[in-house]
Amino acid sequence: MNDALRVGVIGAGWMGHVHARAYQRVAHHYPDLARRPILTAVADSVTSAAEALTRAFAATHGELTAYADWRELLADPSIEAVSVTAPNFLHREIGVAVAEAGKHLWIEKPVGLAREDAVAVRDAVAANGVVGIVGFNYRNVPAVARARRLISSGAIGAPTHARVQLFTDYAAHPGSPLSWRFALDRGGHGVLGDLASHGVDLVRFVLGDIDALVAQTAVHIPQRPIASAQGHYSVIDPSTPGLEFGAVENEDYVVALLRMRSGVLAVCEANRAAVGDQNNYALEVHGTQGLIRWDFRRPGELSVCSTNTYAGAPTATVFSEPGDGEYAAFQPGAGIAMGYDDTKVVEAMQFVRAISGEQVSPAPASLDDAVASATALDAIVTSHTEGKWVSLS
Ligand SMILES: NC(=O)c1ccc[n+]([C@@H]2O[C@H](COP(=O)([O-])OP(=O)(O)OC[C@H]3O[C@@H](n4cnc5c(N)ncnc54)[C@H](O)[C@@H]3O)[C@@H](O)[C@H]2O)c1
Repeated sequence: MNDALRVGVIGAGWMGHVHARAYQRVAHHYPDLARRPILTAVADSVTSAAEALTRAFAATHGELTAYADWRELLADPSIEAVSVTAPNFLHREIGVAVAEAGKHLWIEKPVGLAREDAVAVRDAVAANGVVGIVGFNYRNVPAVARARRLISSGAIGAPTHARVQLFTDYAAHPGSPLSWRFALDRGGHGVLGDLASHGVDLVRFVLGDIDALVAQTAVHIPQRPIASAQGHYSVIDPSTPGLEFGAVENEDYVVALLRMRSGVLAVCEANRAAVGDQNNYALEVHGTQGLIRWDFRRPGELSVCSTNTYAGAPTATVFSEPGDGEYAAFQPGAGIAMGYDDTKVVEAMQFVRAISGEQVSPAPASLDDAVASATALDAIVTSHTEGKWVSLS
């Protein structure tokens, strides 16, 4: 192990902590890395709550310089790489600034509020010759990597139709406060950027590009309490005396029918306010000779039917094992569970290797992938508004 790679994190919330942990763990799982990331600095916004948060972040993750303004972090010439884990409305401004500062960029999905934001970040990364990767981490689940390999090898025959579903309840409580997530100018199109972006990326990862789509969206909880608490899972008692409510400006639910370039039809459905469902994310692909089904909550398992007998064929559960994606970097034998944070350790590895000029296979999710996802999300909004199929070509 070798040259230190000084990194900073912008946004000290949930994802900021996950990226920070990934930088600290990545060398444990990949001791051959040419460069060792050293988390050096964190920046969060200038509110007093954020200052306390930033200090707590620094205390958790070691000797860090804590900045109240991300521009100060970018001004540190010793920092070569930056994670952007701030809210969606800041992705474009900060992502472009990171690239223009000549620093490598690991940015969270969905990369802005709309396609034009993702394009701006992609172009800035390309123009400045830095590495840019995107946090579509479900690609890094070994069972998903195996699903992709099985599908491309013909194990389920020719794919016929697919379904990706992302149902969760972090916004199901009517007391979930009116954070940036529910405002169009800061959270973009709600569940679209939050969850459907992952769904679109997963479908593209296993089945290729989308040709056209038709979609409908809905808001299930039109008003939420105005409060200072802003976290993903915060809840305010909606009966609190004097509590004021504001309008939710973006989508709780989306269902989209995707026609892939291959002709395969796929349903992408996402709900952030799904009572009774906690991170119930699933991917299912049917083919002429079988099926593949994956459930995020049982990440190490894959249901597989691969047959030449057609009707009556059994579906078996197979467990992730060395050879499936990056599984071998975490566990030595089949069926030992990996966790959510591990997918981000894989992303950190991909980021560091790309910075060192090493080949990473499969390649990490790129800013082109973010643009493709954002293109589909914009098309979903257009389809809902105009009530028609929208071509993505
Ligand atoms: N890949 C995934 O599975 C996944 C999961 C959750 C969130 N995300 C993405 O990560 C991003 C952050 O989500 P989160 O859940 O961590 O949100 P969060 O609200 O927990 O954290 C966001 C942080 O950014 C800070 N912030 C706000 N303005 C800032 C500014 N001007 N400068 C610096 N920091 C600022 C906030 O104070 C907060 O600490 C979002 O874009 C989200 O889409 C990705």
